Amino acid sequence: METLKLDISKTGVAVSAAMQAKAQAANALLESGKGAGSDFLGWVHLPSSITPDRIEAIEKQAAKLREKAEVIICIGIGGSYLGAKAVLEAMSDSFKFLHKKRTEPVVVFAGQNISEDYTHELLEAVKEYSIATIVISKSGTTTEPAIAFRLIKAEIEKRYGKQEAAERIVAITDKARGALKTLADNEGYPTFVIPDDVGGRFSVLTPVGLLPLAAAGVDIAALVRGAQEMERATADGTPFEKNPAAVYAAVRNELYEGGKKIEILGSYEPKLQYINEWWKQLYGESEGKDGKGIFPASVTLTADLHSMGQYIQDGERTLFETIISVAEPAGKVVVEADGENLDGLNFLAGKRISEINRMAELGVQLAHVDGGVPNIRIEIPQIDAHAVGSLLYFFERACGISGYILGVNPFDQPGVEAYKKNMFALLDKPGYEEASKAIKARL
Ligand code: PA5
Repeated sequence: METLKLDISKTGVAVSAAMQAKAQAANALLESGKGAGSDFLGWVHLPSSITPDRIEAIEKQAAKLREKAEVIICIGIGGSYLGAKAVLEAMSDSFKFLHKKRTEPVVVFAGQNISEDYTHELLEAVKEYSIATIVISKSGTTTEPAIAFRLIKAEIEKRYGKQEAAERIVAITDKARGALKTLADNEGYPTFVIPDDVGGRFSVLTPVGLLPLAAAGVDIAALVRGAQEMERATADGTPFEKNPAAVYAAVRNELYEGGKKIEILGSYEPKLQYINEWWKQLYGESEGKDGKGIFPASVTLTADLHSMGQYIQDGERTLFETIISVAEPAGKVVVEADGENLDGLNFLAGKRISEINRMAELGVQLAHVDGGVPNIRIEIPQIDAHAVGSLLYFFERACGISGYILGVNPFDQPGVEAYKKNMFALLDKPGYEEASKAIKARL
């Protein structure tokens, strides 16, 4: 089953033989493990390594949480948050909060910010519901989720007692290291391991993404199947033109070398908004280093045509666009004819909303191309777990290839440490005494 179609015909560039060769070599490096950051290539064959037993173990744990809690609070940040959030938003009814006869537990997120208002509102909102939590941190030491977990843990223990808390708290962390692992072992929480060789932003198909998604009722077996198919479709040895990940990686590097420094990912389906956010982390953290890298930005359309549209059409010509297009909507709404036609919209009568959306997409594509914004189009058949699984792996594989073409280590993130050092110094964390004095003098 073809789950994804890539169209680069409106990019205005041809992928050179040299760039094709670089993409093929980069893809081979992902398999051989001889490239930079090779300790973090566990994601490459992750989909095909997921056995039915592993899915079953995750679904079993999810079922326990679903039985106990009306609200499951998923705690994590960055790669320990965005994958689950992105897939869950994509899979969810946009108006689920209005549905009175709710049968599924609601999965909400915490620890992805340090906002007191957000935390307060969350603690207030869950007061009348039974709760459980999934706490996710690979390092086990990240400040934002650690603070949220301290609060949620206390709330769970206060309500249910320590023994029952161990039935309502699941930890996903490193197999041996970090404060969360120590805490989980001491308290007897069920745990799932984030493999050493899978970095946060590539971890959506580990329990990091799969457990919260299963807890929310997403068909994780279908998600994984979609990823497995894409793993096969992008394997080393696949001819360049048949490998969508290699083609996408190559064309974006051609564009970058031609002066297009910003890639805007967009979609005409608002449910995919957090796929944009997940993608921004994936590409931003993987490629933005050594003074290089395409800046990943995003829009949700058609809404952002009424805010960002002007810039995209007419601003600095350093942009290109990648559009995720969905072939078939799940629901059907048709515009009806109106006897008076006061709004002048009868020319749309009988048309599905999706036809109008499609014409908006095609019209915008040509307008932007005419305005000097190259367009890459990725079409998925529909928004379901299978297609989304395939899309996620496609982007991961392309990211690995693209990072190697660019000549960076796509699997580290030294730049994210700088703010943490400053924050700890400002908060007088033990061990930061000198840094603390120095930074306070600068304020
Ligand atoms: O991709 C990454 O490595 C980061 O975004 C991490 O996922 C993020 O900082 C959270 O880290 P941890 O899972 O260790 O709490």
